[in-house]
Amino acid sequence: MRYYPQGLGENMNLRQTLSQILILDPKYRSELDFWKQHLNELVLWYRGEISSLYGEPAPKSKAQVACFNEKDSAILTWLEHHQKKKYLQDLQLKSNAFSGLKVLDIGSGPFPSALVFKNCELYCLDPLWPYYLQIGYPTHYYDKMRIVSAKAESIPLGDNYIDAIISVNAIDHVDSFLQVSKEIRRVLKKNGKLAMHIHYHEKTATEPEVLNDNIVQEAFSWCQGWHKVTQSKKKRGYKIDSASQIYTLWSNVHAVS
Ligand SMILES: C[S@@+](CC[C@H](N)C(=O)[O-])C[C@H]1O[C@@H](n2cnc3c(N)ncnc32)[C@H](O)[C@@H]1O
Repeated sequence: MRYYPQGLGENMNLRQTLSQILILDPKYRSELDFWKQHLNELVLWYRGEISSLYGEPAPKSKAQVACFNEKDSAILTWLEHHQKKKYLQDLQLKSNAFSGLKVLDIGSGPFPSALVFKNCELYCLDPLWPYYLQIGYPTHYYDKMRIVSAKAESIPLGDNYIDAIISVNAIDHVDSFLQVSKEIRRVLKKNGKLAMHIHYHEKTATEPEVLNDNIVQEAFSWCQGWHKVTQSKKKRGYKIDSASQIYTLWSNVHAVS
């Protein structure tokens, strides 16, 4: 597979980028350090110098996405072979789940993983997008997504604007879970779709709030059909280092079992 650039970072605002660089607090610095380190790992994985990463075997040459440089090739290969698959698995959805809809991915990280959902208008929200670009994650290969460089506590989109909201391992990273649930309620259309993979854990540098079933149920009690779909202590490729860690899927999209 071969990717070509589509016009460089048109969603980036340089003044916003520069002002944010000055105000990055320790939580976001830790997030960024993780993704910097991850980029190094991706290149080693792409070269086959590490045999697997998060359970994903190093790509055979046929599976490698060809690109202009090794770093971008590694990133695009990881997007295709890990990130997109992870979104379908974690959200337990098919790639046509949001066909014809406006979809917002909250806490997208530096990959537009939700591009796996076909035929939708995709908005990838993450406050670190300008930094991701700065440390080497490209945006110019992706022509079918819009970057929203903002915190989920204050989503720069209109009321009732979005048809479907998803989030994978990110809603537990926000600064105020309650405020984010209010923002989701505001931007999501009435009877809109909502599906989130939520990780419960102790407080960490990048995950300041401790979540549990009661908190999640209560914060989204406004959402009709909201329920916990599954929970697990295991996740492929991830080491669980504390008994209190749980991976959950919450949604109003899946059938109640
Ligand atoms: C573990 S990463 C998950 C990225 C992606 N969803 C994935 O599964 O690969 C968590 C993301 O949440 C983002 N995040 C942290 N605080 C946030 C906030 N207040 N609003 C929106 N996103 C936030 C981080 O910048 C980071 O990119």
